[in-house]
Amino acid sequence: MADRFGKIRKLFPITRKYIYLNHAAVSPIPRPVAEALRKQVAEQLAYGGRAEDLWEKRAEQARREAAKLLGAKPSEIAFVTNTTHGLNLVARGVDWKRGDNVVLPRVEFPANVYPWLSLQAKGLRIKFVPERDGRILLDDIERAIDRRTRVVAISFVEFTSGYRNDLTALSKICHDKGAYLVVDGIQGVGALKLDVKKAAIDALSAGGHKWLLAPQGTGIFYCRPGLLRKLEHPMPGWMSVVGWENYYQFEYRLFKDCRRFESAQKNLLGLCGLLEALRLINRLGIDAIERRILEITDYLCERLQTHGYRIFSPRGDREKSGIVSFYPKRRKAEAVWASLLKQGFVTSARQGRIRISPHFYNNFADIDRLLHALSWGRSQKRAR
Ligand SMILES: Cc1ncc(COP(=O)(O)O)c(C=O)c1O
Repeated sequence: MADRFGKIRKLFPITRKYIYLNHAAVSPIPRPVAEALRKQVAEQLAYGGRAEDLWEKRAEQARREAAKLLGAKPSEIAFVTNTTHGLNLVARGVDWKRGDNVVLPRVEFPANVYPWLSLQAKGLRIKFVPERDGRILLDDIERAIDRRTRVVAISFVEFTSGYRNDLTALSKICHDKGAYLVVDGIQGVGALKLDVKKAAIDALSAGGHKWLLAPQGTGIFYCRPGLLRKLEHPMPGWMSVVGWENYYQFEYRLFKDCRRFESAQKNLLGLCGLLEALRLINRLGIDAIERRILEITDYLCERLQTHGYRIFSPRGDREKSGIVSFYPKRRKAEAVWASLLKQGFVTSARQGRIRISPHFYNNFADIDRLLHALSWGRSQKRAR
């Protein structure tokens, strides 16, 4: 497997300049994505809208690849501009009654907070669930759900701890109590296996610019048909309706499937990039990608611990992910982050910790060099 991923490294020219360990933030795009973008820009330059059919075909291919990755049907996928967009399609689509509530972990990225928080004015209550030692406990979620809970909104993988929530167990808890499970998928989709049908998720939204290795401004939204039928469309447009090609028909008949959410012109340029990124991921296989990422992050944790670092991220078999956060020693996280960057390592400082998030094209040597760079920073300080 290592060999296969070793070859893939060539597709990431960023490896010549940086040791890039920050896919939980914004990822570099691989070569095939850049080439596809260039090609489509050239087509637009040469043919304008005359090439539109071709671009639409590519978008449909991207939809099929996205469906394949998530174990869904293409008709259950809509393109969105970011994670927030998809989450808002649900938040603004549920027929809330005053006094209903949404259950949210206290440590969600704000993308999965404001769509719900903004509805407080309409009488929606937010019930926050605490994080405990980097974990979100099923018991805490279950206890928080009451008769008025309509939605549990949660990340597939939490953005600072890297804790992988057990979506299958969560959907069971939600459905037993009559609530929907809505997932912010961005920190897991493209890195970890997820079958939305097996996990029985109601809706999921994931921007393309992290683990999916696609351009910013792209994203995928999955919606279970049973939920789709109940959602009000918060932002319908001329392309949401059947027969939109007949401009003067003015019949408000929404597409029965997820296409209704693509209300008007799509980001066809971004989507041709998303297509190539999804093709690469599906070609490598999400099982193999997950194994590779976990192998690298396991190795990272082992090396960090050997060097006396305390790891914050839960690393049990079913809870680990591509994100590893650890506490710096003696120095502030920002100082460590800056020192690493000076040495060519791209990481993040989050909540007083260093966050490392390698993708499949990183390797063990990257981790060895990181450990070396961490101690280099310390020895410099001692020397001063
Ligand atoms: C868990 C999580 N959700 C969402 C986002 C981003 O949201 P959006 O795609 O809406 O910009 C991030 C990081 O940027 C994140 O870590």
